[in-house]
Amino acid sequence: MRALQMVDTKTQYEKIKEEVDRAVLAVMNSSSFINGPAVRDFADQLARYLSVKHVIPCANGTDALQIALMALDLQPGDEVITPSFTYIATTEVIALLRLKPVFVEVDPLHFCMDPVALEKAITPNTKAIVPVHLYGQAAPMKEILRIAAKYGIAVVEDNAQAIGCDYFFTEQEKKKTGTLGTIGCTSFYPSKNLGAFGDGGALFTNDDALAASIQMIANHGQSKRYYHDVVGCNSRLDAMQAAILSIKLSRLDQYNLARRQAADFYDSAFAGCSSLLTPHRAAHGTHVFHQYTLRVTNGQRDALADHLTAKKIPNMIYYPVPGHRQKMFASFQTQAIDLPVTDLLTQQVISLPIHTELDQEQLQCIANGVLEFFK
Ligand SMILES: Cc1ncc(COP(=O)(O)O)c(C=O)c1O
Repeated sequence: MRALQMVDTKTQYEKIKEEVDRAVLAVMNSSSFINGPAVRDFADQLARYLSVKHVIPCANGTDALQIALMALDLQPGDEVITPSFTYIATTEVIALLRLKPVFVEVDPLHFCMDPVALEKAITPNTKAIVPVHLYGQAAPMKEILRIAAKYGIAVVEDNAQAIGCDYFFTEQEKKKTGTLGTIGCTSFYPSKNLGAFGDGGALFTNDDALAASIQMIANHGQSKRYYHDVVGCNSRLDAMQAAILSIKLSRLDQYNLARRQAADFYDSAFAGCSSLLTPHRAAHGTHVFHQYTLRVTNGQRDALADHLTAKKIPNMIYYPVPGHRQKMFASFQTQAIDLPVTDLLTQQVISLPIHTELDQEQLQCIANGVLEFFK
């Protein structure tokens, strides 16, 4: 059996090696490493895939979130509502820009922002909402967008974990996550569903003025060469990553299907285990399983993690400390906030290996390792 890993990018690469190697060599021979045709081609291809007007590539997903908030022209102290149960990048950029993170509760089933908690948290100072499509599942965007429209607040979707996910407004009308709000952000970190061989990220929007502003901010605030109109940053996707991402984008649906099939296997293996809650699949969207995350409800999560680790079965806790309890936000006094669902999830969740290359033998071995613990 191949060694178990949380993510197996090596085996995935071996299957597309010839195509990738050829594309990387072509970039090297072109000497067009920054903002060349490979980057433009990838951005166009991704815009078509997402059915969105503008895709602006950048250096990583954290930059994408930062640039999105910069483009909204927020003022220091403006409030940005976001879940506490997310990767730190979502919330870190809010504080970095001297905005105020306002942490709200997530839904215990799908782990994404709870719209009721969102509406309660809105004040006259709320200027943006940042929902996260966590683990590859869409946040309840219809409700979030309705609330945002009611109060005239921008929505920046953190789509780092959910590229390719469909959101269903109705049975007939579906759109890709990341294209539903004012601006969408994603990451091409290697382990992501659409992963580069290094760092990368992108922003999406249907708004022409915002797209121009994002483009400018990502390029030193430059409107034309050496004319800098606003304070920006330097955030670029390089051409080699773009060339690789183009190849992988053409397989993204197939990759997401492979993840879903692995999740189906786990779901049926754990169906009879009363101490485990398998991932809920919300009717409002497809789940692209960036993570396969169980809830261990008998208080034995850490013991299960130790058991799996001893058996060389990789596992991870995403995330052990919620945003509102992180020291970095001490000055916002977020520790006093009461988020019982978030706190409970940080004690119960455990993620198992999920990627495009898991075979039946590996899946069975992982499932057996988990089930053995509960015997
Ligand atoms: C939810 C979420 N937001 C943002 C990011 C940041 O992306 P990057 O690592 O490319 O900066 C990540 C990636 O780890 C993420 O999972």
